[in-house]
Amino acid sequence: MSRFDKEAKNWDRSYLRQKNAFQIAKAILDRVTLDKGMTLLDFGAGTGLLTQHISPFVKEILAVDNSLNMLKELEKNSKSWKECIVSTIKSDILDFKSDKKFDGIISSMTIHHIKDIDKLFKNLYLLLKKGGFLAIADLMPEDGSFHSRGNEDVFHFGFSKEFLEDIATKNGFIDIKYEKIYTIEKEQRDFDIFLLTAKKD
Ligand SMILES: C[S@@+](CC[C@H](N)C(=O)[O-])C[C@H]1O[C@@H](n2cnc3c(N)ncnc32)[C@H](O)[C@@H]1O
Repeated sequence: MSRFDKEAKNWDRSYLRQKNAFQIAKAILDRVTLDKGMTLLDFGAGTGLLTQHISPFVKEILAVDNSLNMLKELEKNSKSWKECIVSTIKSDILDFKSDKKFDGIISSMTIHHIKDIDKLFKNLYLLLKKGGFLAIADLMPEDGSFHSRGNEDVFHFGFSKEFLEDIATKNGFIDIKYEKIYTIEKEQRDFDIFLLTAKKD
């Protein structure tokens, strides 16, 4: 059982997580034009903290996560999100394939848990429609102290602008922008959050 499977039931009790997801959603909504015809993919969707805030603005969201218990919480939570069709698939995003391509892909606080970022961007490119967008938020470089309970499932201590811009460019994305959007204040420390947006040519 993964750490996320164990923590799923209590995940949404954290005010810090709720607030962070709200700020990330706001940053996405400020920068990306969404419409009620769109189908999005949210990977590492967890209990749906980000999915919920984006759901009123699109037709459909597919939540992909490799933790069944996190998705079970998302399924319960999404019963009250009436304005969008929300479905779930348990899968590692690196292995996820779909014949139906997406108008956009969103994600919050997940990519530091994924070891092979090059493989991730390759797969995200395949999953997008031509002209589709990417909006990924996570930690800017940190010293490894963000996860106070330990770093056993953490593969990256945040991401620099240069690293992500390079990987996105190499994998065919255009209009790449990396911006600091928010700062999490946790245990008297500040952790900066970026939003990376890009398009499939
Ligand atoms: C820190 S949580 C973030 C959850 C949610 N996006 C949020 O902002 O609250 C990271 C999530 O990514 C999922 N995850 C980690 N690695 C994954 C992978 N390779 N494929 C799919 N999901 C993954 C975990 O199960 C977990 O639900």
